[in-house]
Amino acid sequence: MNIKHIIPLIALSVAAVSVSAQNNAREAFKFAKHQTKLLLAETAKTNAAANKPNLLSPRALNTNGDLVMVSPKDWCSGFFPGNLWFLYEYSGDKFWKERSEPFTAAMEAEKSNTGTHDLGFMVYNSVGNAYRLTHQQRYKDDIIQAARSLITRFNPTVGCIKSWDHQKQWQFPVIIDNMMNLELLFEATKLSGDSSFYKVAVTHANTTLKNHFRADNSSFHVINYDPETGKVLNKQTLQGFADSSAWARGQAWGLYGYTMCYRETGNKTYLDQAEKIARYIFSNPQMPPDLVPYWDYDAAKLGNQPRDASAAAIAASALYELSTYSKNAASYKKTADKILNSLGKGYQAQPDSARGFLLLHSTGHKPANSEIDVPIIYADYYYLEALLRQKRLAEKKPVINSPGTLKN
Ligand code: GLY
Repeated sequence: MNIKHIIPLIALSVAAVSVSAQNNAREAFKFAKHQTKLLLAETAKTNAAANKPNLLSPRALNTNGDLVMVSPKDWCSGFFPGNLWFLYEYSGDKFWKERSEPFTAAMEAEKSNTGTHDLGFMVYNSVGNAYRLTHQQRYKDDIIQAARSLITRFNPTVGCIKSWDHQKQWQFPVIIDNMMNLELLFEATKLSGDSSFYKVAVTHANTTLKNHFRADNSSFHVINYDPETGKVLNKQTLQGFADSSAWARGQAWGLYGYTMCYRETGNKTYLDQAEKIARYIFSNPQMPPDLVPYWDYDAAKLGNQPRDASAAAIAASALYELSTYSKNAASYKKTADKILNSLGKGYQAQPDSARGFLLLHSTGHKPANSEIDVPIIYADYYYLEALLRQKRLAEKKPVINSPGTLKN
């Protein structure tokens, strides 16, 4: 076959992949809209019975299949409003915007919460998406205020934002998950012109780079620092199998976090780190063929362990973005497509089941015997985000949607 014949064939196969990605997204969003109407109804029932001033959000199902609802103070409270914003983004249908607004309003008071490092998850995934899609001033003000609250937890001697206050076994714990909260800070600098948020984010990312990673590019879950000297005291875990193990969701948070830090700074070191993490995850001998990992790569060696669909969804979303920065674009995109295909085929709930959650089989905190092999809201959030990113790439649009693109 000569080159004249090969080029149209390549073009045809690229077009076929785009069409199949769009079909995939169309089917998945049809399912997501149907399921989320059920979850809205279930949520409304619980809120009516609870009669609280602020709406509770769905977090997970327990092993009996009961809905676990949380107040805006919980770290998982921003994902449900975020999912509703994603459905609005996909469909342009005001129905979803109007459903998200009250849940987003409930999150706005958290902008002054200085007792958590999770303000990125809480405020950015709810109010941040609201601002991105509506450009309303009040949401912009909330993002900047939340960033002010978050940086009160920064210790310049350590060079990090403190994670938990309630785990008294550690003086100044910093968890790999905390990389995800830096996106709020980068955005706050762009919105306010105040570079102090950016500086804190970069310092935290650099300190984490120095202390959280092992020689094989897997990461520890928790680094405990001496707050007076900045010295590393312990390298441990809370949610993983062992201090020395690779907790699956932690690896996914690192991949997403350093990809996002590269987007925000252009610093090649962050891109290299994201690629090293991707290599660790996707060349791991314990990774199952469907690319949905067991909850911990080292626990997987024991056999008969639960999966963590949330780790797969987070990684898929990160890989779509990473594919737009890397010479390994095709391989990252193919891997992300494969993950979404696996999630769509083997992990989605049956329509009208699981009280309206989208994905089954996530694992929240195995050592605490909590949220094992159940639907969890952040798996659904990153699944929807990954599907939107897949669709945007298929349409040759930038994978990160810019602010203010849907105004009504
Ligand atoms: N701390 C967030 C998580 O469980 O992944």
